[in-house]
Amino acid sequence: MAKVRTQFICQNCGTVHSRWAGKCDGCGEWNTIVEEDPMGGIGSGPGKVPKKGRAVTLTSLSGEIEEAPRIHTGISELDRATGGGFVRGSAVLIGGDPGIGKSTLLMQAAAALSRRGHRIIYVSGEEAVAQVRLRAQRLDAASTDVLLAAETNVEDILATIGEGKRPDLVIIDSIQTLWSDTADSAPGTVTQVRTGVQAMIRFAKQTGAAMVLVGHVTKEGQIAGPRVVEHMVDAVLYFEGDRGHHYRILRTVKNRFGPTDEIGVFEMSDRGLREVSNPSELFLGERNEKAPGAAVFAGIEGTRPVLVEVQALVAPTSLGTPRRAVVGWDSSRLAMILAVLEAHCGVRLGQHDVYLNVAGGYRIGEPAADMAVASALVSSLAGLALPADCVYFGEVSLSGAIRPVAHTAQRLKEAEKLGFSAAILPAGSADMPKGNGGRWTEIDSLPDLVARIAGSRGALRPAEDD
Ligand code: TYD
Ligand code: MG
Repeated sequence: MAKVRTQFICQNCGTVHSRWAGKCDGCGEWNTIVEEDPMGGIGSGPGKVPKKGRAVTLTSLSGEIEEAPRIHTGISELDRATGGGFVRGSAVLIGGDPGIGKSTLLMQAAAALSRRGHRIIYVSGEEAVAQVRLRAQRLDAASTDVLLAAETNVEDILATIGEGKRPDLVIIDSIQTLWSDTADSAPGTVTQVRTGVQAMIRFAKQTGAAMVLVGHVTKEGQIAGPRVVEHMVDAVLYFEGDRGHHYRILRTVKNRFGPTDEIGVFEMSDRGLREVSNPSELFLGERNEKAPGAAVFAGIEGTRPVLVEVQALVAPTSLGTPRRAVVGWDSSRLAMILAVLEAHCGVRLGQHDVYLNVAGGYRIGEPAADMAVASALVSSLAGLALPADCVYFGEVSLSGAIRPVAHTAQRLKEAEKLGFSAAILPAGSADMPKGNGGRWTEIDSLPDLVARIAGSRGALRPAEDD
């Protein structure tokens, strides 16, 4: 038999190295590489005698399609994020920072499903039975028939959940606590986590139970993060939020059975997570309409319009290199907008610090936010507040042109619903609703937008004249 070679695996991204290094070449993280024994578990290599392969029947692409059988939790924000409920026989990974509310969400889901007559098993590897019971009491879940186990050994868990009637849903909280006798590495390492997750997925596929796996996102890399198993599961959801805010967003990043751009919005309260069915109201809740530098962006998340405030602060810098700080948006995208403003609109920002923030701890991924960002920046620089009842959306190209974006009608409808009577949007949008009545202003270039916000009063002049 070949000599056993140990491997050095990055606990953050799973890259295998032949020797230890301080920094992982794969993901650039420091101190995440740990020595692991590759024997046992996944990637155990050609240690065993290879069995003779069995031919499977090849089939065609056309044929009967079955709708994925789902179990609905009745928590509509959760069902929306999963694409209509948990799919039987599938494995879902729910990742997120520690303390963000994963266990809370899943306990509430378990209770809701149990009330609907499903058999739910909650396996907690992190908290003792008493702790889980305490949380269940707080969440009004204690009187339900959710079955609870505090266990971390993969073989024991499999024996437990395999016993008796098949469960409809199994929750494993969390994958980082799983350890198997078949893998030699320490609990929490990539090998252990992968081995455990693979065993759970196999159980789900064999029995038809839905499997929910909780994974902590770890910055330190002492334990393997959810990334290392993302490719193995059917769906990946991330539970995000700012600790300072009480909103929590469940975002779908991969889904083999549904759309991947949906979000579920929750609010953390003292009695658990509360669904937020109209996120716009929440994100616009604390607006100061008279302050310069705030623009409302009419965005789309999946199938749902979301209105959110973009805040900018542009102030003269005291540093040699001005600061650019962004929260909730892509910083390279901000750099692009600043460059276009300088090159095509004569807005000089080289001597200014620029801070950009998306209200409510929300994160915008859409390029359609360009126009709202540009408006907020110009408004702050000019010291002029934007009209309080106006929304902005549209993509800015490097030439300074404003490009149309999708879902115009939906964005405008949501804006109207929330009392925004005006909008500034790209010219030539495909699905413009009829009956504009002059409230919506179509714009085709960024200089035009800048002139509308600041130009008429010459508010940007002094900066140019220096
Ligand atoms: P938890 O679900 O334990 O987080 P995770 O499993 O992602 O690590 O949630 C922990 C936080 O949520 C904790 O700081 C307390 C807070 N919380 C509430 O505010 N209200 C509640 O009803 C519950 C159960 C928790
Ligand atoms: Mg937890």
